[in-house]
Amino acid sequence: MINIAIDGPSGAGKSTIAKIVAKTLGITYLDTGAMYRAVALHVINCGKNPSVVEEVTPLLNDINISYIKVNDENQICLNDNNVSEDIRRHEMSKYASEVSKIPAVRLFLVDMQRKIAQSTDVVLDGRDITSYVLPDAKYKFYLTAKDTERAKRRFEELQAKGQKVSYEQILADVRDRDFNDMNRDFAPLKKTDDSFEIDSTDMTLQQVVDTILAKVDEINKKEKLSQIKDINTSVNKQIKNNRKKTKHGWFYKGIANFVRWAMGALWITKIYFKDNFPKNSKAVVICNHYSALDPCVIISKLLGKNGKVVMKNEVTQNSFVAKVAKELGGISVKRGEADVNAVKSILGALNKNQPVLIFPEGTRNKQNTKELLPFKQGVATFAIKAKAPIVPMLYYKKTGIFKRNKLMVGAPFWLDEFYDKKIGDVREEATQVIFDKMQDLRKEIDILVEVCKGSKKRYLKYKKNQSKEICANVGEGR
Ligand code: DC
Repeated sequence: MINIAIDGPSGAGKSTIAKIVAKTLGITYLDTGAMYRAVALHVINCGKNPSVVEEVTPLLNDINISYIKVNDENQICLNDNNVSEDIRRHEMSKYASEVSKIPAVRLFLVDMQRKIAQSTDVVLDGRDITSYVLPDAKYKFYLTAKDTERAKRRFEELQAKGQKVSYEQILADVRDRDFNDMNRDFAPLKKTDDSFEIDSTDMTLQQVVDTILAKVDEINKKEKLSQIKDINTSVNKQIKNNRKKTKHGWFYKGIANFVRWAMGALWITKIYFKDNFPKNSKAVVICNHYSALDPCVIISKLLGKNGKVVMKNEVTQNSFVAKVAKELGGISVKRGEADVNAVKSILGALNKNQPVLIFPEGTRNKQNTKELLPFKQGVATFAIKAKAPIVPMLYYKKTGIFKRNKLMVGAPFWLDEFYDKKIGDVREEATQVIFDKMQDLRKEIDILVEVCKGSKKRYLKYKKNQSKEICANVGEGR
């Protein structure tokens, strides 16, 4: 929103000038002084004393201020009556100054003014706009003139309207109001450091308007310039970062490629049902874990360059290892704490259709048993949050270099029964579902290796016969 705030003592020409500025920019003009005058008018109409807090405050509940457009100009209404003429009576200036000292009145009107400024492009003039109502406004002005000049202008204005007043009286009133406005306890009139001061004593109306418009233009240009500077700085930073990244990038990429190749060659692994593995779509891939080199093998044989692998951050303490691991798709996670960055990276990768390998046991099975260690709950969380399938994989036995390692990839499954539930309520149950699926896969890989001697053909035949048997049993049962 455009908010132009103009403060200054009475008679400095604020309202006339603010009106022209608003018209030139095609935005609304809000005369906040008129609001204080309307409150004062209501107080007087009710026969109460505008300087007595206890008499004024209860009346605020009965005040409704609104605006109507007359000749393209907003005129103020008090409880639906247009009072724009009445509030300009000479004595109303004094009464308005009295009610404006009452904090409850100010809070009542400031609230209205802020709401208008939040929803409308507006030029506001008053006493506390730059200091209290809109301290963060981008365009702030303090418009003043010598008190004798202000009194002269007011005197001529009232004379033209046919009101009988003396110049001395008006000067005394102006000084009185200046004192009241500048010395009240709550939100007094003052020039803020960031307001642009214009002394209009020897200036024409047009000169003041032009000065304000030129200043608005200058602030806009400065802002654009600083935006351009900000963009330049951030682009330069990025270029520097990229340079840093690419400086030795080729080296670590080379090492990563070598690791991929070497692991594939040395960690001889027979992978069963490789087709179950989704290369280019999101999936939380889980596997039992025996050796520190298991991830490298899976990266080399299955994940490829698109996949990610979650590794404990202890592995990546060394900066060389960390850089190679990153090239291999490593996401380092701090265990035992809510690692927000790791969570973001994992979900980010899944949302970018990348498979992410997680070892749900959280650590290696150092006893080298076939039994699975208890599962951590992260897998369930990620699979539910990203609505990603889980691909279970299982090594038959302890893995090792130059051994004939065997890995079976199970059918993907989804945790969709938990998607519309609160994650905290279902994490444990979902983790049990995942654990059970891995136990099922354990039975399958045992059959494949032990019963079918590692032959996929025999295994498929075995499964076919098994299902025939089941059908026959079901048939007999009937
Ligand atoms: O600008 P004006 O003369 O119409 O204002 C009438 C009175 O209202 C003035 O004495 C000071 C008070 N006023 C104020 O305290 N804060 C404002 N934002 C506007 C006006």
